[in-house]
Amino acid sequence: MSEYREPAAAGDVIRLDSVSKTYRAGAPPALARVSLRVGTGEAVAIMGPSGSGKSTLLNLLAGLDRPSSGTVTVAGQRIDALGESALARFRAQHIGIVFQFFNLLDDLTVLDNVLLPAQLAGVPRRLASRRAEQLLERTGIARRWDAHPARLSGGQRQRVAIARALVNSPRLLLADEPTGALDTATGQEVGALLRELNAEGQSLVLVTHDPQLAERQRARVVRIVDGQVEGAGQAVAR
Ligand SMILES: Nc1ncnc2c1ncn2[C@@H]1O[C@H](COP(=O)(O)OP(=O)(O)O)[C@@H](O)[C@H]1O
Ligand SMILES: [Mg+2]
Repeated sequence: MSEYREPAAAGDVIRLDSVSKTYRAGAPPALARVSLRVGTGEAVAIMGPSGSGKSTLLNLLAGLDRPSSGTVTVAGQRIDALGESALARFRAQHIGIVFQFFNLLDDLTVLDNVLLPAQLAGVPRRLASRRAEQLLERTGIARRWDAHPARLSGGQRQRVAIARALVNSPRLLLADEPTGALDTATGQEVGALLRELNAEGQSLVLVTHDPQLAERQRARVVRIVDGQVEGAGQAVAR
């Protein structure tokens, strides 16, 4: 998909500086002083036990939630400092997200699901349709463009979700347990697709319980335990 991509910006796609997140006063923080850098084009796997703060971290990276303290910089933009509408715009344009349970809209066709973020970003439908069709080809579901998600298998649904996440050519692709609801073989296919996208230059951060998935991604593993990053690495050259 390199033909659609803007020239890669040098430097880090993600920079977290001393980020903490507390959901309720008095509760232990879900994240505590997490600092992390991810280089443009890198693949990072966030791993750790249930409840350790992985989804919290991903949601902060996605701009779906805000830190209690610290700064979150994505593609050079301090997203923790953006107002609601600017944040929504930034998210639509620059961040793609894939969830464990796909989060597709059942009332829309496959194509319209994929087009939704383009619509939110104000991209003209004709332009977006071309991109969406190319992505559906790329992810192997072009023949089902007019189907509704309920008619698709889990693996097909996740492919639709990946196409949707990529429709605006985001600087960053985030995936929270993208294979967690899939059987092993299907999960491996989805993993291989993510691996290909990263090999083509897509910056990728995924949360997974599955060490094999992380290994197949050739991802740098960041372990998180009780809201803290163990041996937080710097971005590595690849
Ligand atoms: N919206 C929320 N409100 C209150 N507590 C939350 C919320 N989301 C997560 N938590 C708590 O924060 C901690 C980290 O959760 P989470 O980031 O979902 O972990 P993981 O994804 O690693 O399983 C857990 O103790 C969880 O109960
Ligand atoms: Mg989680």
